[in-house]
Amino acid sequence: MTTVKVSLSKSYDVLIGGGLLGNAGQLLAKITPSRRAAVITDDIVCGLYSQTLASSLAASGFEVSVFTVPNGEGSKNAANFIAVLNWLAENRITRSDTVIALGGGVVGDLAGFAAASYLRGVRLVQIPTTLLAAVDSSVGGKTAIDLDAGKNLAGAFHQPSLVVCDYDTLDTLPVEVLRDGLSEVIKYGVIGDEKLFLHIEEKGTGFDREYVISECVRMKRDIVSEDEFDTGLRRLLNFGHTVGHAIEQRSCFSISHGKAVAIGMAVMARASKKAGYCSADCAEKIISAIKNTDLPTECPYPLYEIFGVLCSDKKISGDTITAVVPEKVGKCVLIDFSLADFNEFLRGGI
Ligand SMILES: NC(=O)c1ccc[n+]([C@@H]2O[C@H](COP(=O)([O-])OP(=O)(O)OC[C@H]3O[C@@H](n4cnc5c(N)ncnc54)[C@H](O)[C@@H]3O)[C@@H](O)[C@H]2O)c1
Repeated sequence: MTTVKVSLSKSYDVLIGGGLLGNAGQLLAKITPSRRAAVITDDIVCGLYSQTLASSLAASGFEVSVFTVPNGEGSKNAANFIAVLNWLAENRITRSDTVIALGGGVVGDLAGFAAASYLRGVRLVQIPTTLLAAVDSSVGGKTAIDLDAGKNLAGAFHQPSLVVCDYDTLDTLPVEVLRDGLSEVIKYGVIGDEKLFLHIEEKGTGFDREYVISECVRMKRDIVSEDEFDTGLRRLLNFGHTVGHAIEQRSCFSISHGKAVAIGMAVMARASKKAGYCSADCAEKIISAIKNTDLPTECPYPLYEIFGVLCSDKKISGDTITAVVPEKVGKCVLIDFSLADFNEFLRGGI
């Protein structure tokens, strides 16, 4: 097992190993004297893992309640957020008790935002069961739900008190969902770790779980430690995400987050090459790593549609946008563009 220690406004451990779910009760008992836990999960993960988790918690003396939402991005909505809050209140969960997010990024974001809001904040434990959640969403404290006007538009920073990443849960993940997670791993490789990038290029879906997850979590920890509240360096983690979010939204979420980010990274690589920020070789390496992982690289929508969605993104401040631009594999830079210049820049990639 690998332990990555995170020290932000709150300090916590990210435990990464096989078979950890069956020890979750003991692990949770070490960080809280309370013996009540509210597990939030989705219907697929519930069928696969809630019993193992509940048994482990019960064996350590926890009283456990489970709330299940339908799987998929559509569940990260305001109605479910309110439903979770009401359910926590009906179950008389108090400030000393613990909310556990068991699932992928959707459950992590929804349960995390509920834990941030309920009673102005209760303890949160993340138990990621997708690669994306393991390497990205379960660490760093961002939580959110989607609004009609766009993705992740309501949320809070709320750090977990513990992350238990049992990578044996990836065994049941459909290969498509595993690939979605690999998209984020390629992102980490491009923004800061060429060795990790080469590992994924070589091994594909047969990657070394302990090495890959630990390296990604360490990199996220290091970046977030410099910029917990996302005003500067943390934006590096958005490589491929500005265009990716626009693609996701334009597709009405029929294109998954991972695939949309893969296309977003390919678009940025081509655009960076065209604008002279990176070499043709660098762009080619990024695009071929994405293709080797069987992820898409071509944007299915014309530039004006993507740009339209992008401009309506409430997170864009004023007339400028900060883009994450690759210089080489292992190094990206943040560049401020006017919206007009960014439109021109993207023309080189879409
Ligand atoms: N908070 C953050 O910092 C952050 C970062 C990146 C992404 N996100 C968010 O994460 C979400 C995407 O997360 P995701 O890709 O994990 O999607 P997801 O949570 O929708 O999970 C994908 C699918 O896999 C299923 N699943 C989960 N674990 C499984 C397992 N072990 N075996 C079999 N099936 C399993 C789920 O039921 C679902 O159908 C997006 O909403 C995105 O905005 C958040």
